[in-house]
Amino acid sequence: MKLCIIGTGYVGLVSGTCFADIGNNVICVDIDRNKIKNLNSGIIPIYEPGLEEMVKRNINQKRLKFSYDVNEAIKKSDIIFICVGTPTIKKTNSVELKYVYQVANKIKSNLNKYKIIVTKSTVPVTTGDKIESILKKNKYKSKYDVVSNPEFLREGEAIRDFVVPDRVVVGTKSKKALKTMKSLYLPIIKKTTRFFSTSRRSAELIKYASNAFLATKISFINEVANLCELLNINIEEISVGMGLDQRIGERFLRAGPGYGGSCFPKDTRAIVTLAKKYKINLSIANSVIKSNDNRSKILLNRILKILKNKIKNKNITFLGATFKANTDDMRESPCLKLIPALITKGAIINYYDPTGPKKEIEKFKNVNFSKNVVDATKKSDLIILHTEWNEFKQLNVKKLTKNKNVIVYDMRNIYSPEKMKKNGIKYYGIGR
Ligand code: UGA
Repeated sequence: MKLCIIGTGYVGLVSGTCFADIGNNVICVDIDRNKIKNLNSGIIPIYEPGLEEMVKRNINQKRLKFSYDVNEAIKKSDIIFICVGTPTIKKTNSVELKYVYQVANKIKSNLNKYKIIVTKSTVPVTTGDKIESILKKNKYKSKYDVVSNPEFLREGEAIRDFVVPDRVVVGTKSKKALKTMKSLYLPIIKKTTRFFSTSRRSAELIKYASNAFLATKISFINEVANLCELLNINIEEISVGMGLDQRIGERFLRAGPGYGGSCFPKDTRAIVTLAKKYKINLSIANSVIKSNDNRSKILLNRILKILKNKIKNKNITFLGATFKANTDDMRESPCLKLIPALITKGAIINYYDPTGPKKEIEKFKNVNFSKNVVDATKKSDLIILHTEWNEFKQLNVKKLTKNKNVIVYDMRNIYSPEKMKKNGIKYYGIGR
């Protein structure tokens, strides 16, 4: 099939490349000419394991192209995926949809034959209805179907999530569009995937409700972890014990520094704002947002307690800066609240991240990026394991630093507290 992907951000780039890999002809378009030039040479703007190889392979096989000529790309394609950004409007907490509607207008001007228009960007319920009404007035009088097909890809695991998804959700009332979408996904839905067809509005809401629910699970376990710390109970045991109940499920019950990234914070805010518009109070999602916002205060207090309130001139090392492992994404990373708060209290911050220095951190004073774990931890009084990268999972803390009194605060519960104690290292985890 001939596909056009508009927007080569995370969603568009991964989806377009994976669609090409399962045999389609894909043109990915973006207004950023430099990005397109780089992509055509196989230079990827994001860190995503396996993506670069897949892009290069599909460029070589001539199934994947990158272009800034959006008009031509739309005209040539049968299915058009809208994958542009839908950020939060800070003042109102609602979703910025101007990029989506700009694309809808571009499609309207180039709708030279029947096409399926798919929203893959996370968009509020009724956005599909609005796109449909924009397209109505197209000069070619062409027919079209507007379909919602939300993505459920996790950064760092995106290719696996695309190829072996739990479900593919397609929202449309058009039989013709549904048939085409089903055959597009056929190479992957043959496995264990559920292909779930539903109404367009339902598909739009499924995405928000899923992210809000996963965020709820995380915030719930984080609050239980707070309790565990006072009761001398290990949260890991609680997560396993709860997760064994299939009604609950074991995933997304890892206590940690709070959820971050480009999706959960944005989507929880968006679903609450959407509900408010319809005078519905999503009180649980509201509490989750507050609970996650409050997480940094709780962690900061713990750090103060660990260092006995003596923060001034203490060397604190953050291992990992991104919001989770296997990504270079700094958006809403928990350390972005912790680092400035510690600096204000006089701490000297060192950090290391496998994906390099971060402009979001470099703007703070008294921060130093090191090129490896050894340099970053040399003078540490406190090592904070902030992100669960594999390279942090086998550290010999005793050898790393000459400071005999070094303390480790493991925000991802990577290490066994017993082993750390045995090795004479002062160690703190989350909820244990
Ligand atoms: C999330 C969803 O998992 C995807 O299904 C969805 O497609 C995507 O958002 C999106 O809307 O585009 P992502 O933001 O890449 O994916 O990251 P996750 O792996 O879900 O992690 C989100 C946050 O929760 C991270 O900060 C992570 O550290 C935290 N987390 C996750 C926990 O603290 N505990 C857990 O058990 C799981």
